[in-house]
This record gives sequence, C-alpha cells and structure tokens, in this order.
Amino acid sequence: MSWRFQNSWNASACARNLQRHSSSQVQPQSTALHFYQNRQLELYASKEANRLSLRQLVFFGRSMDEEKLIKSANYVRTELPVRIAHRLRDLQALPYVVVTQEGVAQVYELYWSAFEKFRRYPQVTTLEENQAFCGFLESILDEHAPVIPSLSLGLSLSSPHLPPDSLDAFMRRMLVSRISRRVLAEHHLALSKSLGTNSLSLPDDPHVGIIYTALNLRHSIDKCVALLRSRPHDIEDETGESVPNRGWPEVIVDGHIDIKFSYIREHLEYIIFELLKNAMTATGLNHRSSSSLPPIRATIVVGENDVGVRISDQGGGLSLGRIKSPSDLFSFSHIRNATRMDDTRLGALRSASSRGVKATVAEQIRPWRSEQSNVDSNNKDPEREAGIAPHPGIGLGLPMSNIFTTYFGGTLELVSLDGWGTDVYLRLPKLGTNLEGIEL
Ligand code: COI
Repeated sequence: MSWRFQNSWNASACARNLQRHSSSQVQPQSTALHFYQNRQLELYASKEANRLSLRQLVFFGRSMDEEKLIKSANYVRTELPVRIAHRLRDLQALPYVVVTQEGVAQVYELYWSAFEKFRRYPQVTTLEENQAFCGFLESILDEHAPVIPSLSLGLSLSSPHLPPDSLDAFMRRMLVSRISRRVLAEHHLALSKSLGTNSLSLPDDPHVGIIYTALNLRHSIDKCVALLRSRPHDIEDETGESVPNRGWPEVIVDGHIDIKFSYIREHLEYIIFELLKNAMTATGLNHRSSSSLPPIRATIVVGENDVGVRISDQGGGLSLGRIKSPSDLFSFSHIRNATRMDDTRLGALRSASSRGVKATVAEQIRPWRSEQSNVDSNNKDPEREAGIAPHPGIGLGLPMSNIFTTYFGGTLELVSLDGWGTDVYLRLPKLGTNLEGIEL
C-alpha cells in the first residue's frame, strides 16, 4: 500500500507529501518507497508525449478491427501515464503556499493515484481484456470529475502568491493536458463501443470514435440556442441582483450555413453554448427596460484552413470596469480579472468541487457511453457532454472555451464596442492536421 492511502485525508498532510515527492526537496525521513515512486515518475516524465492530430485519430479509427482496437488500448495505457507524469512534475514545482491551498492537494492525489494505476496496468491482449480496460477508464474518468473546480479553487486562492503569467501558464498546461487525456480515453471507449455494436462496418458512418466527420455548425448553433431557451430565464446584474427577464433574444444565423467539417462535437458545442449564453445574458441585461430585445447574429465563414463564427450581440460590450482587456476574461489571476477572488465565486467553486466528488455516473454520461452510441443526441447539455458539470457562477465558461478552442490550434477573440455590444470571433481548424496543443 502506498503512502497516499496510509494518510488520512487532510490537505496539509497531502501538501507535505507533495513536497516529499518532489525530488528537489527530498526530506531526510523519505523512505525507499518514496524514492522508488519518484524514480518512476522521473522515468515517465522524461518521455515526450506522443501528440496526435484530429486527422490521425480519424484515420486510425476509421477501419477498426480487433487488432487495431487492442493497439489503441495499449497506446492509451502507455501514453496517459506519460502525460500525467508531466503534470505531476508541474504540481511538484509549485511554491509551498500554493500546494497548501484547498483543492490543490486533492488534484495531486487524484493524479498520483491515476499515474500508479496506469503504470501498473497489464498489457491488453484480447477483446475481453479490453472490455475490462474500458471499465477501468470509465471509473477514472468519473473519479476525475472534480478536477476543474478543485484546481480553479486552489489556484484562485493562490492568485496573490503567483505572478499572473505563471498562474495562467500553469492552468493552461494543466487544463489542455486534461482535455487531451480525456479525448484519448473517450475516443478509445467510443471505438470499443462501435466495434462491439458493429456500427463501424458502415463505410459512410460520419462518427469515428468521438469525432464527427460531418459536423454541421449551423445545427450545433441551433441546438445550443434551443437548449438555452429551455433553461430558466433568470439573470443577474453585475451586483448579483436578480433581474426579471422577459425572454431570450432571437439568434440569426447567416453566412456559409451549410458547412460541415470534422471536429469533436462536444468541444464545439461547449464553446458555442458558452458564447451564446454570455451574449444572451448581456443582451437581456442591457435591454432590461426596453420592450423588445435586439437579435444576436451568428455569421459562419469558411476559410482555406479554418471555419469561423462571429457572434455579435448588443449587450453593451465588456466595459465591466474590473478588467483591462477582453483577453483578461480568460485569465485565472485576480490581478488580470478581479472577479477571480470574489467570495461568491469562491463559494460556488467550493461547492462545485465537493459536488464533483459525488458526481453520479449519470451526471457525467457521454453519448458514446450509452446504448445509443453514434446517435445524435439533441437534448444533452453541452457543458456535461464536454466533461464539465454545469456549475453556475464559477466563471469558467470563457477560460474553458478558450482552452477547448486552442487544443487543436483554434483561436478565440473578443472585441468590445463599449456601450454597444461584443463581437466574438471563433476560428477552428477545418483540416484536422494540427497536433494537439499540449506542452510536454
Ligand atoms: C482527468 O480527467 O483529469 C484525467 O486525467 C482523466 C484521465 C486519467 C483518463
């Protein structure tokens, strides 16, 4: 049994252990076990992650057979501990004051446990063994549900102790890497499911694992609008006061509305959902005393290498007074974005972090995990589908949208016309040739 399980759950004990695991700070009382574990970590962290492109994921997954599926299982089995090891090293390099913050030790524990489990997992050689491996992957995906709120809570509380560039770079590495690991795990689960149900025998099937090769952007926008409209209409002003909302503005979609491209639908819809949610809320607030709401316009444009969407609203712009530049909205540092240390937000993060621990499997369910794999699911919540349970008030929608966008090399830009409205420019690569944007 490792030291981790001998300790009662306690953040400061974990923080001490975290420091003990760091090879640069080995304490005299370190045991041979700690030394051995750190050697293993160093071994894995010295390997480079094998980054993939969307196109590679599609090509490999397209003509799936038993041999390829087993190869895929062993790729995931050996690649994930390398990616986790890099992030464990990152956590070990944090200053002690950060490590002791609520939430950080919890994430460190989860990563150590996952690292050890993957490292020790035996090679997969048959379909039956792959089935067991898929069960193992699902349980780890569920266990890791609280990672985003816990990490955000810990790093928000650490904001006074870290320069904004370091804090944002750390969060970016952690979050992009997390997305990448979940993509690999979920892609393998989806491929396993498809082979089990023989649905990949159809040559024209647009689903390859978690990638949808005929993703219709307009349909995704319509789906997000419908979901937002079905949500309660209550909105809050800048002071947290509830404002009566008479309805949601109309969303006009124009431009190249028939475009289809290959992408991970859950990522695209998470981003679109968050952007439209912000645009609709800002419009409702800005026109709270008018008799009608001006429409939001979503314009789709196909370029040589990418697909773009501009979402324009008349929500008054970003003149919030508490941020200097629109890109500060993506920041986790309170110096760039003062709202990061608001008590209400920290409280919401705290409850999201503990709710995540108790997240039920149903709350985390993804379509490819259900019996109806490969069936379009129009009533699923994009936040849940992207592996992030919706938690109002934690302020993660924009930073996470930016992380999802940049994972395969897209860009997200906000332009404020103060006093009038905001234009958001989302560009996603359409060729699928960019490698994952994870840092090694
Ligand atoms: C995460 O969700 O943070 C993960 O690392 C999941 C992965 C180990 C399957």
